[in-house]
Amino acid sequence: MEDLIKKVAGHIAAAKHLVALTGAGISVESGIPPFRGKGGLWEKFDPMEVGHIQSFMRNPEKVWRLLISEMRDVLVSAKPNAGHLGLARLEELGILKTVITQNVDGLHQMAGSRDVVEFHGNFAWLRCMDCGSREQTVDIDLSQMPPKCGCGGIYRHECVFFGEMIPPKELDRSQIAASTCDLMLVVGCSAVVQPAAFMPVIAKQSGAMVIEINPEPTPLTGTTSTILVKGKAGKAMREITAEVERIIAAKRQQ
Ligand code: OAD
Repeated sequence: MEDLIKKVAGHIAAAKHLVALTGAGISVESGIPPFRGKGGLWEKFDPMEVGHIQSFMRNPEKVWRLLISEMRDVLVSAKPNAGHLGLARLEELGILKTVITQNVDGLHQMAGSRDVVEFHGNFAWLRCMDCGSREQTVDIDLSQMPPKCGCGGIYRHECVFFGEMIPPKELDRSQIAASTCDLMLVVGCSAVVQPAAFMPVIAKQSGAMVIEINPEPTPLTGTTSTILVKGKAGKAMREITAEVERIIAAKRQQ
């Protein structure tokens, strides 16, 4: 494992334009459950029942009660872990240019990452479905279900539901980032939800190397990605970032 960490750090230190694609796995060590796999949200809820826009339109109260109220406390109190902090450090070092995240938790920005594309939107803000006015999730009164705006319209999160398009600006920026990077790091992403899972494919087709960090292999492993660091994002990123810093310091002394 130590050799693999050194190898990955070597690729990162040599990269001119690193882009990261992150999924729910990077936030697991911050106490946020993933969607799939053991302990995942979709073990508890049917994604088509609570995660689809048509279910929300049919019965917003149910979706608010089942999913959103439960997630609010978890998301509002979560703090970045070594995975997020490692990526922010790589940006500070001038290597990492963009983080494309499928997560709606805002933890990359909290860790200090500046160029973050929120592919599936964010949980921090709500929007009235009638008048479009915005409100912070943390400020919303949950005694009324579903929460409503002063105009009487129902609030929804600025998250992308199943059945909705990816916001064009985010999709565009992600495709540009994927096609211009020379290395893509895919962290904590099951790579089964499209079009996010296609970003590493675009990177590979554009000539970039793709490296994954995940305790489990994914559909990208061995096909699109050439290296899988099999482990948790926090530990792996802490070790990789420390090694990248060592390589850079050694180069400066030469
Ligand atoms: P998933 O829940 O599908 O997958 C989480 C991935 O993280 C899996 O591959 C796990 O093996 C891995 N994992 C678990 N613990 C980890 C850890 N400590 N460190 C690193 N990896 C770990 O999450 P996503 O791939 O993000 O969509 O799911 C994609 C989309 O599916 C989400 O954005 C959401 C969901 O439905 C929408 O909300 C539209």
